Amino acid sequence: MDALRRNRQKPTVLVTGGAGFIGRWVVAELLRRGQYDVTVLDNLQSGSKSNLSEFIGHPRFTELIVGDVRDWALLDDIFERRSIHTVFHLAACINVQESIDEPTRVFQADVVGTFDLLERARRYNSRFVFMSTCMVYDRCSEPQGIAETSPTKPASPYAGAKLAAENMVLGYHHAYGMPVTILRPFNTYGPYQRADGEGGVVSIFCDRADRGQMLNIYGDGTQTRDLLYVEDCARFVVDAGMHPAAEGRVLNAATGRDVTINELAKVIVGDESRIAHVKHIHPQSEIPKLLGNSDRARELIGWEPVVSLEEGIARTRNHLAAANTDEGTRAGAA
Ligand SMILES: NC(=O)c1ccc[n+]([C@@H]2O[C@H](COP(=O)([O-])OP(=O)(O)OC[C@H]3O[C@@H](n4cnc5c(N)ncnc54)[C@H](O)[C@@H]3O)[C@@H](O)[C@H]2O)c1
Repeated sequence: MDALRRNRQKPTVLVTGGAGFIGRWVVAELLRRGQYDVTVLDNLQSGSKSNLSEFIGHPRFTELIVGDVRDWALLDDIFERRSIHTVFHLAACINVQESIDEPTRVFQADVVGTFDLLERARRYNSRFVFMSTCMVYDRCSEPQGIAETSPTKPASPYAGAKLAAENMVLGYHHAYGMPVTILRPFNTYGPYQRADGEGGVVSIFCDRADRGQMLNIYGDGTQTRDLLYVEDCARFVVDAGMHPAAEGRVLNAATGRDVTINELAKVIVGDESRIAHVKHIHPQSEIPKLLGNSDRARELIGWEPVVSLEEGIARTRNHLAAANTDEGTRAGAA
């Protein structure tokens, strides 16, 4: 009982999806700041325990709870045991193609799961930070890039689920005065992003380049992306989640520079004979130009990205090369 009372008094932040790619860096940033205890809830569907291994034993890292955001009993237990100051809700099914093939799964995880968690956050007076995505936007060719006021268009069930969940979160803000923030980062890349998924174009290209394989580009490669380095993204998530000026707001995070997928492939592999163009798997859900504008985040919370694309790619390659060497050493020893 004493332990329970002590835990209740310690302000904790809950990071859902904290064993995933961006979540792992959000946990790192929170621990670096040292203001709160950090608890992770993740069902390990696409994340992994090993992403958090360096934090095990950190005095402010309390636990990794392996479980689902839709598990009401588990959520009740977490909010009862700990005093959750802020929920950083990053857990989601993020694969666009999967959302087209199996929309029920993405609806359950990304909409119902967000509602289940939001409802707990309301009952326990927690702040709620919802990780949405730039994929909610319609195409935009404005030279100043896509701002939070730009039109949205859910081109896939994934984007539709994120918009639905965003609206529910904002509804709680307006109805109950709950402190919430909606985040729409642009395409994020960096160390720990899986190289076998659909979305991590930088990781997939770097991994294939280092293994001497061809880089396959969907469609003609003229689609552009505004690529945000993951530590800049994690700093954005934590800054926005902590700043009073971000309450009730929707905030973009982007670099303000977009590159075509053709240019990206060339930067990574150099030799054009190692680049191929293949048939797009879901052209109808492709956004042809994604250039973000994060003036609002700069003005409201003072956030700006600091890592250039070239530097971010170098860090990603170094990390992947070290991971591939480890893999080779283990295979050699086996
Ligand atoms: N990667 C990007 O470029 C990008 C850009 C903008 C927004 N986002 C958003 O950021 C968040 C994190 O994305 P990521 O790229 O790190 O993906 P990720 O797949 O690495 O992380 C998602 C994590 O959520 C966990 N998870 C999934 N469903 C769950 C559930 N029902 N209950 C508990 N845990 C669950 C997974 O196991 C995984 O660890 C997502 O909400 C995503 O929509 C990502």
